[in-house]
Amino acid sequence: MTNVSLPTSTWSQRFETALHPAIARFNASIGFDIQLIEYDLTGSQAHARMLAHTGIISPEEGEKLVSGLEQIRQEYREGKFTPGIEAEDVHFAVERRLTEIVGDVGKKLHTARSRNDQVGTDTRLYLRDQIQQIRVRVREFQSVLLSLAEQNVETLIPGYTHLQRAQPLSLAHHLLAYFEMSQRDWERLGEIYQRVNVSPLGSGALAGTTFPIDRHYTAQLLNFGGVYANSLDGVSDRDFAIEFLCAASLIMVHLSRLSEEVILWASEEFGFVTLKDSCSTGSSIMPQKKNPDVPELVRGKAGRVFGHLQGMLVLMKGLPLAYNKDLQEDKEALFDSVITVNSCLEAMTILLLEGIEFRTVRLQEAVNEDFSNATDVADYLAAKGVPFREAYNLVGKVVKTSLAQNKLLKDLTLEEWKALHPAFEPDIYEAIAPARVVAARNSHGGTGFDQVRQALKTAKARVGEG
Ligand code: ARG
Repeated sequence: MTNVSLPTSTWSQRFETALHPAIARFNASIGFDIQLIEYDLTGSQAHARMLAHTGIISPEEGEKLVSGLEQIRQEYREGKFTPGIEAEDVHFAVERRLTEIVGDVGKKLHTARSRNDQVGTDTRLYLRDQIQQIRVRVREFQSVLLSLAEQNVETLIPGYTHLQRAQPLSLAHHLLAYFEMSQRDWERLGEIYQRVNVSPLGSGALAGTTFPIDRHYTAQLLNFGGVYANSLDGVSDRDFAIEFLCAASLIMVHLSRLSEEVILWASEEFGFVTLKDSCSTGSSIMPQKKNPDVPELVRGKAGRVFGHLQGMLVLMKGLPLAYNKDLQEDKEALFDSVITVNSCLEAMTILLLEGIEFRTVRLQEAVNEDFSNATDVADYLAAKGVPFREAYNLVGKVVKTSLAQNKLLKDLTLEEWKALHPAFEPDIYEAIAPARVVAARNSHGGTGFDQVRQALKTAKARVGEG
């Protein structure tokens, strides 16, 4: 189409000189917003269809625009459409190429639209897809947590508060705590999806448009759940992006906490897990080392996502209505967070699936060599009518003398127990055995094996695996 005049600069004839090359580079977003191209094309196709549907352009013109846009999609997929800095952003790049392909009618595409409502539409379409993708990854992660939990209902692990041995736990109970966190992540993403899924298209630059557009028509074509009620809000709202970054940050908080535990568990001091070769690395100088790089990286990457959330909040807080170029900065924050969350979920899923092995013998030793059954001695007395606080003080004393004598509670003779309190009977030994201590915490949501089995069943049903 050599006879068609293409816009040399992206804006109007009001401008006489070209942009300074460094400013052009500074201003351009094509380097990263090219990632939005498929969404831009889809959004533009819906807009073109609406223009034809409402009679703003002719049906033939509408068809030309739609198929021209489809051609650009093919070119892009085949690696033949690679716009450079001169295009400024993905929106101009597409419009320019469209005009090359279909001729002057390409210049009608931007009727009754602004890049402001266009970029908002693209970003929402993009995020919608990403949220669904991340939800799938969360489900995969949950699935591995559930099967690990299933194998370890009766495996015991020390439970901690203040990182001090507190009470023993079913390992499955510990893992199911992470399942609950990720279930909230999954639900939260679903709730946020509802607010991402609102169409700003048709808000125009800020005030709406003089053309008889049909915003519900484009919203329907693009499967949006509704339209923004206010055009100013439509083009300047980024709450949905901030909400997504909040959800992404919480996912990272959860993954990072699990990472921290795996790192501790893999240390010689804890020795609760062994890292498999497929998921750990060595040291370049210390031949004995096996490093937990995966959880360390996940823990480290959490910071980037929190940073993007903070960045977006600061980006928004001082912006007068409506669109401001500052908003161009939302994209890299979103893109990087999406990549980070996906890769961390994937890595942690693989790590749990095949990268760590629980050292059951070591865990068994661990729960047998501490005073984490002390509460159960107090509970034992309390169940026999001794006021709990009195029982608690008494057991504190036993712990103190046992520590001094280098003994554990299970090593006390019945005479020693009886000397402390006449209520002690031979069944005290059974009552303080770790498996019994765990089984006895059968309150709703507790670590008792029956509770854990029930929780496992409910969890499976919640993710559709039941
Ligand atoms: N590249 C821009 C962005 O990402 C597109 C919207 C530009 N709008 C404008 N009025 N300059 O935000």
